[in-house]
Amino acid sequence: MHEKILVGVAWPYANSPLHLGHLAGAYLPPDIFARYHRLRGNDVLMVSGSDAHGTPITVTAEQEGIDPAEVVERYHRSFLESFQGLGITFDLFTHTDTENHWAVTTDLFLRLLERGYIYKQAMRALYCPRCQRFLADRYVEGECPFCHFGDARGDQCDNCGKPLDALELIAPRCKFCGGTPEVRETEHFFLDLAQFNEPLKAWIATKTHWRPSVLNFSLNLLEEGLHGRAITRDILWGIPVPVKGFEDKRIYVWFDAVIGYLSASVEWAKNRGTPEAWREWWDASAPCRSYYFIGKDNIFFHTLIWPAMLMGYGGLQLPYDVPANEYLTLEGRKISSSRKWAVWAPDYLARYDPDPLRYYLTVHAPETSDSDFSWREFVDCNNNELVGTWGNLAHRMLTFAHNNFQGRVPQPGAFTPEDEAILAQVEAAFEPIGAQIDACHLRNALGEVMALAREANRYLDAAAPWKALKSDPARAATATYVALRVIDSLKTLFLPFLPFSSQRLHEYLGYDDDLLGKQEVVEYVETSRRHLGLTYHYEGQGDRWRPSRLAPGQALRRPQPLFRKLDEDVVEQELARLGAHA
Ligand code: MF3
Ligand code: ZN
Repeated sequence: MHEKILVGVAWPYANSPLHLGHLAGAYLPPDIFARYHRLRGNDVLMVSGSDAHGTPITVTAEQEGIDPAEVVERYHRSFLESFQGLGITFDLFTHTDTENHWAVTTDLFLRLLERGYIYKQAMRALYCPRCQRFLADRYVEGECPFCHFGDARGDQCDNCGKPLDALELIAPRCKFCGGTPEVRETEHFFLDLAQFNEPLKAWIATKTHWRPSVLNFSLNLLEEGLHGRAITRDILWGIPVPVKGFEDKRIYVWFDAVIGYLSASVEWAKNRGTPEAWREWWDASAPCRSYYFIGKDNIFFHTLIWPAMLMGYGGLQLPYDVPANEYLTLEGRKISSSRKWAVWAPDYLARYDPDPLRYYLTVHAPETSDSDFSWREFVDCNNNELVGTWGNLAHRMLTFAHNNFQGRVPQPGAFTPEDEAILAQVEAAFEPIGAQIDACHLRNALGEVMALAREANRYLDAAAPWKALKSDPARAATATYVALRVIDSLKTLFLPFLPFSSQRLHEYLGYDDDLLGKQEVVEYVETSRRHLGLTYHYEGQGDRWRPSRLAPGQALRRPQPLFRKLDEDVVEQELARLGAHA
């Protein structure tokens, strides 16, 4: 049976390029998950886009002395390139500055207002007399009242992850002039989260499959009790508040960003000429599972706020799972864009292939605790595991078959018990490894695939068809066939993780079709706007997550190595690069 799977992916702020922390935490895992489900023949809708609003964008724009729209445009393009380069296959990657998104957000806001889940209230907020403006969110920093981290922002503490109200900050200071803000009164709209405490508790009680870290963080906040949160701001960059008297305020970036999952699905459906199709992934009654792939700093918004908004709106699917990841560190230190302690996706892609990074960031995935990226370990991982184990297995066998069997898959004779054993072992791996991916245990899943590649190497060393070639050509042909069929199966098992090398291997094995699908940048024209997005077309059909049925006689193509060995110098060069910036 085909399943509908919604894959929501955190919307990156369009204020810096992506770095490896983003990729490991939020972007690579959903792609692996989506590719697996597509191979299974399920209907995946994977959406995200650039988060274009709020103070993260305006602070950057002011620092650079340019328009916020220019900041968004620059980094949105950069994201599209990085995702294409890394093979992150969004069905739609759009951004929040579209007419469609504004309309869907306005609709949600008004319905929640009408139903009494949004109320208006005068509140006290921080105001900088010197800069003559209210200091929303990232315009103010200070000490966290919970963990006493010194550089907490007005919206959230990056250290303990707690959502904050800027007024709670100890010793707040204006981000721009460093001055001490004063408290002034201002009127805003609030999402009445208190009304959702009980419904959220009842709902979360059904989420026994959530990661413990995600579940506990959410339950703790619910235990403390949620209260009203302001969802408008005294800024001018963002979506207008659709209520008279609020012309000089905007909707809070987080309120509109989470709505992006829904609006992007609507936009995707419109673009392909089936404007109602999004409902198959969203109607509360639709048989669908929705997943939200995020970093741990976004948990609150996805396990509590967005579900509350959806409950209030009514009739829509709530998240099935929110497999949030912990953090990736870089050479043992916290990644920091501002301190330039980061490896940027565009830089990485300018020098190296995508699959080795996808491999590294998955075997070192920060699924259950923080993990580290180090260039030393990256080079070792590439050279020992990708080149040494998997690449070597595939390359030596393909070359041998190509050279000794007239460029064709040889015709096997009777299988030995060893032949049967390795074929059976690989065959039996599809279900459990698939189940691991489905449960978002990607690190274990990939570990098991690589373990099979090691097994296959052992089989091949023992079978040694090159030795039998003269003395017993029939035996050599059989062992070669078995090895090729094992490699063909491993190609599929590796595909969600290492799509580019698996596609090449697929071609070397003589197949003509495209397992990768096509990613393309498309231009959208709305009545008052044009913008770029990334879409994906997958051609495959049916359940392809199955063992090889490699046909004897199939013509092979001349193989190339699947992976490149990296020079030892890479470690020093890259460390020097990092040091030069930091
Ligand atoms: N822009 C936010 C961040 O980078 C994530 C937003 S995820 C959302 O932390 F879709 F919910 F908006
Ligand atoms: Zn804190």
